[in-house]
This record gives sequence, C-alpha cells and structure tokens, in this order.
Amino acid sequence: MTKLKAALLCLIVSAGLQAYGQTKKPIYLDNSQPTEMRVEDALSRMTLEEKVALCHAQSKFSSHGVPRLGIPEIWMSDGPHGVREEILWDSWGNAGFTNDSCTAFPALTCLAATFNPSLSNAYGVAIGEEARYRRKDILLGPGVNIYRTPMNGRNFEYMGEDPYLASIMVVPYIKGVQQNGVAACVKHFALNNQEEYRGHINVNLSDRALFEIYLPAFKAAVEEGKAWSIMGSYNQFRGEHCCHNDLLLNRILKKDWQFDGVVVTDWGGAHDTKQAALNGLDIEMGSFTNGLSSKATFGYEDFYLAQPFLKMLKSGKVPMSVVDDKARRVLRLIFRTAMTPNRPYGRFVCEDHSTIARKVAEEGIVLLKNDKQFFPIPAGKYQKIAVIGENATRSVTEGGGSSTLKVKYEVSPLAGLIARYGKDHVVYAQGYASGPSLYDREEPSRLDTKALFEAAVVAAKNADVVYFVGGLNKNHFQDAEGGDRKTYNLPFEQDKLIEAILKVNKNVAVILISGNAVAMPWVKDVPALVQSWYLGSEGGNAIANVLTGAVNPSGKLPFSFAKKLEDNGANSFSKIAYPGDSINEVYKEDILVGYRWFDTKKIAPQFAFGYGLSYTTFEYGKITTDKKSYGQDETIKVSFTLKNTGKVDGAEAVQVYASQPKASVMRPAKELKAFTKVFLKSGETQTVALEVKVKDLAFYNEKTNNWTVEPGEFVLRNAASAADVKSSVAIHVK
Ligand code: BGC
Repeated sequence: MTKLKAALLCLIVSAGLQAYGQTKKPIYLDNSQPTEMRVEDALSRMTLEEKVALCHAQSKFSSHGVPRLGIPEIWMSDGPHGVREEILWDSWGNAGFTNDSCTAFPALTCLAATFNPSLSNAYGVAIGEEARYRRKDILLGPGVNIYRTPMNGRNFEYMGEDPYLASIMVVPYIKGVQQNGVAACVKHFALNNQEEYRGHINVNLSDRALFEIYLPAFKAAVEEGKAWSIMGSYNQFRGEHCCHNDLLLNRILKKDWQFDGVVVTDWGGAHDTKQAALNGLDIEMGSFTNGLSSKATFGYEDFYLAQPFLKMLKSGKVPMSVVDDKARRVLRLIFRTAMTPNRPYGRFVCEDHSTIARKVAEEGIVLLKNDKQFFPIPAGKYQKIAVIGENATRSVTEGGGSSTLKVKYEVSPLAGLIARYGKDHVVYAQGYASGPSLYDREEPSRLDTKALFEAAVVAAKNADVVYFVGGLNKNHFQDAEGGDRKTYNLPFEQDKLIEAILKVNKNVAVILISGNAVAMPWVKDVPALVQSWYLGSEGGNAIANVLTGAVNPSGKLPFSFAKKLEDNGANSFSKIAYPGDSINEVYKEDILVGYRWFDTKKIAPQFAFGYGLSYTTFEYGKITTDKKSYGQDETIKVSFTLKNTGKVDGAEAVQVYASQPKASVMRPAKELKAFTKVFLKSGETQTVALEVKVKDLAFYNEKTNNWTVEPGEFVLRNAASAADVKSSVAIHVK
C-alpha cells in the first residue's frame, strides 16, 4: 500500500469513527443498558411538560409517550378474561375494527375454581399473547377483589373469597402475561367489593381485616408476581379515594411492598390534584371526556394530573421530585413493555388458545350434586333430551361492563350438547327471557314470557331427561359492572320454572351459569346440579365434555354458597355493613369472610368453599407432619395419602386448613394454608406432600402493627372442602 493510500484509509476510518460517535445511540435507546440507566437518561432529557404528559390519558385507552424522544405511547386494554375490542379515541363507542375479535377465556371465578396454578400460568401466557399481538402494553387485569357478598355484580371477574387461594392463583397469571412484554394491571386496589355506590362509598374496616383478608392477593401480585402496574379502585378507604390514598399507595404499596411499577386510576377515579400528586397515583385515566367538542370543559388537558398538576409544580406547591418519581415509573413500564428487547410478537385466536380456554373451563366446572350417578350421560343413553333455559343459547361473553368481549366465536351450551348428542336427540325451549344486555340500565324482554314458560313445561314433559341451563347473565343488576344484584334468588322467574318442570319430570339436572352464588329453593328436588361459570369461547364444548363424561369434573367452589342471603357475614348486619348508608360502610363481619364466617358461626352453607364432586371417589389418608414442634422460621411438611377408589381416572383438589385453638385474639375456626390438585388413575394411590410455613400461621397484630405467630398449639387438617375435613394433626410452635 502506498503512503498516500494508507493516509486516505486512515482518514476514512477516523471520519467513520467520528460519525459513529455522533450517531451513537443515547443510553435510553440502547437495549443493552440496564433499565434503570435508560430511565435516568430519558428523564434527564425531558422537559417538565413532557414529564407531566406521562401522567395522564390522551385517549380512552392510551397515555402519552415522549414523541420528541421516540418513546412510545402506552396502550391499554380490558380486561381480565379477553382482550377487549378497540374503542374510539374519545368515547366509549366501538371503533369498528374488523381484526379485533378475540378468544374469550373463562372468567376468573372459573380459573380460581380449577385450584390449578399451572393452568393459571397457561391462561396468563395465552391472554398475554393476545394482548401483545394486539399491541397492548397494559392488560387491565387480573382482578383480585375478595368475594365478600354474593350481591356484588362484579364477583365474576375475581378469584373468590379466600385470600390464600387468590394469592396462589394470581401470581402465575401475572408472570404469564408479563413474559410477553405486556404489563398486568392488578385491580381494583383496594376494597372495591361491591358495585353499589362504588364511586364514593367510604369503606371502614379493621387493620386485621385489611391485612388478613383484603390485601394478601394484591401483595402476592406485587411481591411474587412482580406486577408492573396496579389499578386504584373507585371507592374511598378511611376518608380518601383509593386512587390517591396515602396509606394504600404510598405507605403499603410503594414503601412496604416496594412496588416499582405504575399506579393507574380506575377510569375517572381521581378527584383532587394535590392528593393525586402526593398520594401515590402515577397515571390518571378517565371516563368522562366526551371528545374534542367538550375539550374546553373537560378534556385530557383538564385532568387532575394534567394542566392543574403542571401549575402546582410550577408554583412550587408540589415538589419536582413528585413528577420525577411518576415519570420514572411510567418510563420503567415503557422500557419493560413497548421498548423491551426481544419482545415476542404474540399470537391471536389460535388453536392453542382455544385449547387453554377449554381446559380451564373443563377444570373449573363444579359438580355440586350427582344423585345416583345421574351424570355422566353419554350419547345414546336417552332418546330425547330437553335443554331448557336462556343461558343455553345466550352469549355470556358480551355484557357485564368493561370486561365485555367481541369474540371470534363462542360455542353455546346448546351447540356443545347438540354436537355430542346429535340434533335428533335434543329439543330446546328458552323457558324464560331476560332482555337485552345494556350497560347501567335494565330493559325487560319483549318476548311473550308466559308462552316461553308453557312451551318449556311441555318440552320437559315429553323428554326423557331435562337439562335446565339457567343462572345469571351479564345484564345490569346481574353479574355486571356498575350495579349490584337486587335479590339472591335466580332472576326472571327461573325458580318458578324449575318447580314447574319438576312437577312434570323428575329427571332434571340444573346447570347454572353465573359468577355468584344463588338461592336454590329447589335444590333437594333436583338429582343433579352443576355450577358452570362464564366459560368463554369454548364454554359449550367444556360443558358437553363434562356432562357426557369425556372429562371428569374436578372444579371446586372458590366461594361458599349460602342457603340464604343473611347467612353471609356481610349480609347478616344492618345496611351499614352492606351496601352502606350511601356515604359510609363498615365491614362488621371483620375477618370472618366466606367460610371463615360459616365455620366460626357454625352456619351450614348450602355448598361449602372448596367443595366439588367427581365421577370417581377419593380416599384420604391421615394427615401427618414431619415433626411435632417447630421454630418460627421453620416449614411444616405435611403429608397424607390419596387414593382414587373409583372406576375412572380423576383429579382432586386437596386442601390443608390450619387453626389455633387457643389464641389471645379471635381466630377463625380454620383457614386455608395449602392446596394442590392431584391427578390419579383409577385405583392409583399417591402420597401428597405439602408445605406450610410457620410464619403463615400468623395473625395481623393490631397492637404491634405486624404479623405475630403466638407460640402454642396449632391444628392442621386435610380436607376435601371447608366442610369436609378428613383428619387432623396437632403441632406445637415454639
Ligand atoms: C372498570 C375497570 C376497567 C376500566 C376501563 C372501569 O369502569 O372499573 O375495571 O378496567 O373501566 O374500561
């Protein structure tokens, strides 16, 4: 190489290096840098206005990014059991997309009823894939508000009455969603245990009830599930709205639980700029922006965390560190989602998702009564099956409020049953009618309900067997957001219809579809009863598979079914305990929620928490522990044998409850501390091994504001449900 050529090459290389130096990615855009460095770098480049913009909505379901820096917007979508259709920018209307029909997964009551955490993970992965495919950064779910009263219109979106069950089931769901680079948004934090007065009711309860019953699932979601976002609830708690509640958000969530994610309001859940600024809220979303036309009166820039927040920051009423903290959290979420390296592309409405939806549905369906082995009923056993009831054909993915879904397909129970039994063997009669599914209002059906009733009785009379498919639906005042149920009984005169059917045909199975317990005045007279939930796209196939015996049921109730409404703790007091006096509400039953109440007060439920039958039978061996005495930091190893003593393979959700017979404070008769689902072939025996940490035997000590395990005797019980204890063992805690 000549000297000239070498000099030229040198020039080119150094010019190239210089150019590289100039175009070298800033740290916040460099995927190889740690997230926290990217966050700080991005923050250092932002103006105050840009930081404030991160803290509020720009449309119904999106919030700002930093367009100048190439940092994308955040896109959110409901909801816990499917990715909602696209909604217009400024109003609640359907945006009219043609590529947004999703897979409906079963509602979360069903997921909880599987008692199967690995299915919860599969569910989370699948719904996360659907959200990712649809380019969502936050999925607005799962919901883990505790089932306190069967009147709550939104119980179907949650995971039942037990904090331990909900804690164990929620964690794998979150992990599954987030492995797709989509944030789970755990909701509604906290104490949104009813829809009546939800926007303002001021909930009062003891610290014990708060920490032992209502917070554990959220805590698990944050500490173990590592949820990237959480949604504040509409209601108030001790005089402050939960979307900007100092105790809940600053002290418990962000300080004690070390939550490093984003607190999002429920839509329209913010009420005050200073509180929103100082009490832990990060992104304000809204329900009431009417579009550009009303922007001057109430638009996104008028949100509490928009211009009013900016003004307070500029005037020094709120320190700059406040907006920096919020912006950091939002940026962190964007780097974890939209700007994460190697984010998968997701999948949408595919066979695998249908399979998971069906498996969850099949494993969640609960067989409550099965006299003389009524079910399974294989094809060919009866010539004429009368399927009666509106829920046999009605869509249960539509309605219910924000969790409503536009689905690619939904197999109705009737379609599922016809596919198994053949159309020549099935007759259908609607029997009753509920009217259209409308948000926030009720409209009676225009059908001739008397004629429907009579036709159903005739169909029942002429059939060999009747499958009554009824229950609640997603209409207002049923299982729906924005209102509670009006009565504990089945609506639309179904009780009357069931009685009338029983008069002409005793061979009746009731298949209830609901997310709540109902009164069952006819329960003694029907030989078979199945609790089916809102099962999603594959509902009809799952029901048919269970009823025909292709699948052996293994679901167990995630909440107690009371015989009458007043048997529930929350409903046994005056209205201050439920639904409140419209301003205040006091959780008078305290920690005795669900089976804790029934057991401790010795009230027999209709069907207990944890209860569910199988087509096979199981024999439980005596419970034993690895030692007699334990230190405070030890783990109790529990074991017992379980044998499938019937003729078919099956699965059993076994439960271990603990109690402390002598304590310095009131303790529930027993509390769930471990469970697992065991699959056993006919005749097979397995040793079930479970662990209970001694520290999990603690109660929340209101004197020390901490958890206490008092030394002394504890009793552990293995059980098939809260009302079906098989054996017990006493241990000593030092
Ligand atoms: C509901 C939330 C939902 C939000 C957005 C609210 O009314 O309470 O659960 O995520 O709307 O649709």
